[in-house]
Amino acid sequence: MAADQIVHGVPPSLSAKVSGSFAYLTVRDRLPTILTRAIDTIHRNKNTFLEQYGEEGIEAEKHAISQLSKLRNELQTDKPILALTDGRQDAESWNHYLQRHVTLHGDEGSVSWFKSPWLYVECYMYRRIQEAVWLSPPISDYDVFNEGKTQSFFQSQSAVMTLCTYLEDIKKKLKDLSQNQLLEHFNKLLQVSLWGNKCDLSVSAGQDNSQITSPLDSLDSLQPFILVDDSNMIWSTLISAQKLALPEKTTAGRVDIILDNAGFELVTDLVFADFLVSAGLAREVHFHGKSLSWFVSDVTVKDFSWTIRQTMAVNHRWMSKSGAQWQNYLKKGTWSYHDHPFWTQPHEFCDMAADAPDLYATLEGSDLVLFKGDLNYRKLTGDREWDHTVGFDTALRGFGPAPLCSLRTLKANVQVGLQPGQGETLSSQDPDWMTTGKYAIIQFYSPKSKQ
Ligand code: F6P
Ligand code: MG
Repeated sequence: MAADQIVHGVPPSLSAKVSGSFAYLTVRDRLPTILTRAIDTIHRNKNTFLEQYGEEGIEAEKHAISQLSKLRNELQTDKPILALTDGRQDAESWNHYLQRHVTLHGDEGSVSWFKSPWLYVECYMYRRIQEAVWLSPPISDYDVFNEGKTQSFFQSQSAVMTLCTYLEDIKKKLKDLSQNQLLEHFNKLLQVSLWGNKCDLSVSAGQDNSQITSPLDSLDSLQPFILVDDSNMIWSTLISAQKLALPEKTTAGRVDIILDNAGFELVTDLVFADFLVSAGLAREVHFHGKSLSWFVSDVTVKDFSWTIRQTMAVNHRWMSKSGAQWQNYLKKGTWSYHDHPFWTQPHEFCDMAADAPDLYATLEGSDLVLFKGDLNYRKLTGDREWDHTVGFDTALRGFGPAPLCSLRTLKANVQVGLQPGQGETLSSQDPDWMTTGKYAIIQFYSPKSKQ
């Protein structure tokens, strides 16, 4: 396949398939289903809006539903992509992006739901959902995906308890651990965070997809499904950042985590970050979330704070202890939460230096940037149909503010950096290997200037 071919439009299949524990839909069905669920959620909450805002709340509910129904119709009938009209801070940049596509294709009709790059239209749908809600005061702050995110947290609670108990147990004996034992725990918690990415709600169109069993027990059996495992590079990057920091008597470097999903995945990221700080492998952790409701389950600032508060409030000794510790890290500035409009735009990351130079400069200050999830991988690689043996460095096309690593379960048709023949073998054994979340990668890259 040509390296510069973009994944266009949506594939034709309309059939629903069953994979693992949840029924998931093909990509073409997924977006209308997500919109239908959003409409249904708003409608079910009609009485809450009435109680909160009286008749105005009901009018807002009707308005939001009509906007979303119109959007669903545009999507299903391949209408042109429209400019945003809500006047929000990022609207201009979205409209500029649309204009770039129109100029490229010559006329507005050719920039449409089925003809435009899949990455673009999928991102655009979430931004239009936001527009529909924003233009429906007084319910403008309503998060149509909130219910699913909180449910995913509660349904994963016993897995979270197991994880927090494990974390607190390691923390108690940290001083006595050899380097090898530390590395073993590092690998386990890194893999838990990796597989936590299976639990996203956009791939199941909002249907429950939470972690029910103990995440630690399944790691050995999941190992063969990690197609690229550069975890040793993450470890050595953290260790060398530690050494560089020694003259200033700080212990370690800064890690940035570009978050993906709320619910169980977010907890796995927080647990991993806590381990890094407690074990002296990171001095500080910067978390990056989304500034609007995105791809059904992605973390916003509200989800982030809510998750920490809930973890603290649970009646379980180790879980609430972990939550209190996380709150404390935030208070002390050891941890910090950031968002930037660039994360909720359709741009590939190789455009970041030009389109969001402030964000790029921020990431340049990091010793290691961890990109969680499938969508981030698509943006790292430009969602191109690369040959599977193309190097990750080539697919990044110049993006490299700092040493970086993608922790992703595969849910979209892009994968680079495989061994010759590996992709072919996978395709013959398991034709859906790139889209079911069954396989994963830990794929590292370090820019030459930082080596
Ligand atoms: O496959 C469905 C999908 O919406 C992809 O388009 C997207 O890349 C992915 O789900 C989101 O997954 P993640 O939460 O891992 O980024
Ligand atoms: Mg996501």
